[in-house]
Amino acid sequence: MSTVHQLSHPLIQHKLTLLREKTRSTSGFRTLVREIALLMAYELTRDMPTHEVEIETPLETMRGIAIDGKKTVLVPILRAGLGLVDGMLEVVPGARVGHIGLYRDPKTLAAVEYYFKMPEHMSERDAIVLDPMLATGHSAAAAVARLKAAQPRSIRFACLLAAPEGIAHFHALHPDVPVTTCAIDRCLNDHGYILPGLGDAGDRIFGTQ
Ligand code: URA
Repeated sequence: MSTVHQLSHPLIQHKLTLLREKTRSTSGFRTLVREIALLMAYELTRDMPTHEVEIETPLETMRGIAIDGKKTVLVPILRAGLGLVDGMLEVVPGARVGHIGLYRDPKTLAAVEYYFKMPEHMSERDAIVLDPMLATGHSAAAAVARLKAAQPRSIRFACLLAAPEGIAHFHALHPDVPVTTCAIDRCLNDHGYILPGLGDAGDRIFGTQ
């Protein structure tokens, strides 16, 4: 069954509102994306496997709960997905980072892979695919299809904003991959931008417009 988790935490929603404003500077935008990503990581890791470890407090020995951060692999879709990596690494510093680069062939409109690099032993890792915008859903679906071939233990997809069209397309192809988003916006415009959205996430993160 496909699932969409919408993160309604007031801190996330407040920062998202600031992020959407067109007057936000590049550095302000980048900072907000990092902060939201950190808060998203808190939710995305809620079901992370834990194990017990024996530790010494100043008073006695006890068994505490620990995670194995290395088992998480963050997979940004180039280039805008990179904006979400640093904030998540602040919370899970041991996570590995794989990268997927795709472009759309202008003639066939098919997604063409130009970069794919994952850590070893993917079958032991839980992958979180990152892209700020789930717009048409084509690149997200293509990235997840490619990632599935590497056989990670689990896959989830995380974005800042999703369009209903993107969710529908993504879930038609990957009903087994849960989507976590901070908001579901109204629709796409004729150019595939999310409305009301926040504009071009990559350009706003990297200051290229
Ligand atoms: N990609 C973006 O960066 N913004 C959108 O609104 C849609 C796709």
